[in-house]
Amino acid sequence: MSIPVIDISPFWKGDKSAMAESAKAIHKACLDHGFFYIENHGVSESLQTELERLSHAFFALPESEKLKIRMELGGSAWRGYFPVGGELTSGKPDQKEGIYFGTELDAAHPKVKAKVPLHGQNLFPEQPTKLKNTVLDYMKEVTELGKLVVRAVALSLGLPTDYFESTITKDPFILFRIFHYPAQNASKNWGVGEHTDYGLLTILKQDGNGGLQVRSKGDWIDAPPIDNTFVCNIGDMLDRMTGGLYKSTPHRVKNTSGKNRLSFPLFFDPSFATEVKPIPGRAVSTDFSDRWDAQDVYQFDGVYGDYLIRKVSRVFPQLFNKI
Ligand code: OGA
Ligand code: NI
Repeated sequence: MSIPVIDISPFWKGDKSAMAESAKAIHKACLDHGFFYIENHGVSESLQTELERLSHAFFALPESEKLKIRMELGGSAWRGYFPVGGELTSGKPDQKEGIYFGTELDAAHPKVKAKVPLHGQNLFPEQPTKLKNTVLDYMKEVTELGKLVVRAVALSLGLPTDYFESTITKDPFILFRIFHYPAQNASKNWGVGEHTDYGLLTILKQDGNGGLQVRSKGDWIDAPPIDNTFVCNIGDMLDRMTGGLYKSTPHRVKNTSGKNRLSFPLFFDPSFATEVKPIPGRAVSTDFSDRWDAQDVYQFDGVYGDYLIRKVSRVFPQLFNKI
């Protein structure tokens, strides 16, 4: 069973009956896979092409140049470059390098002054110079798309379209990453090991090289590149809110294309200081015993930011020690 492609444009246009059709398709996709593609998304193609071009240019630089924006320099803001093997998934180093970005906040912002972890300024490289504005524009456009997709997800759950934006995503917490999976030998480690995403919704742009796999109902299936689409998947918080009706499905990447693969996940997540609670009348279960990692996404207390910081501490243990 392949992952369906859903037309999101009815939500731009406000076409009610077409919105209901798309929402129905999202509901089915979320029950079957926790993953779907979206088309007619409205994100500029030339911006995407430019982002790919500049990202290739950055990763082709000598390591010493890339390390000028290393994550250690971003401190608790959790921004910057990490080299291949620098990030762990389930305790194992991934075969990827990348740059972490997030909403750009200057030093005078109250959250930055208060040293709230994962908030602050991005670290942009000197070269290529255009990467900075391209990343900022891309985050802006895809965040708008995220707002649209969560409206569709709300409708797919039989909720008012503004359910999320009027509760947990009034001020969505946005993280964005650029990953580079160097051409690797198939026998080596995973590009990124099996995991689920932490937040509400992930919107992933992948290039044409493939390698993303999704564990759907016990089987690993491919999520191949499809032109002019984004891959969307459900994160742990939507799993928690729906009591496992919409599962945050495990996925992983191995780049066996023989080429350098780029991917661009944007995480559209609940506000940092929001408690994420089961949706009344929608949460089907609080039994997490069949979850792949036996982790308890339903029982934790506290706000989304606490959950996220705990997760970060596992993927970047050294960085977390400094927070
Ligand atoms: C992630 C992820 C997939 C990819 O960043 O959480 O699953 O293709 N990325 O890079
Ligand atoms: Ni992921």
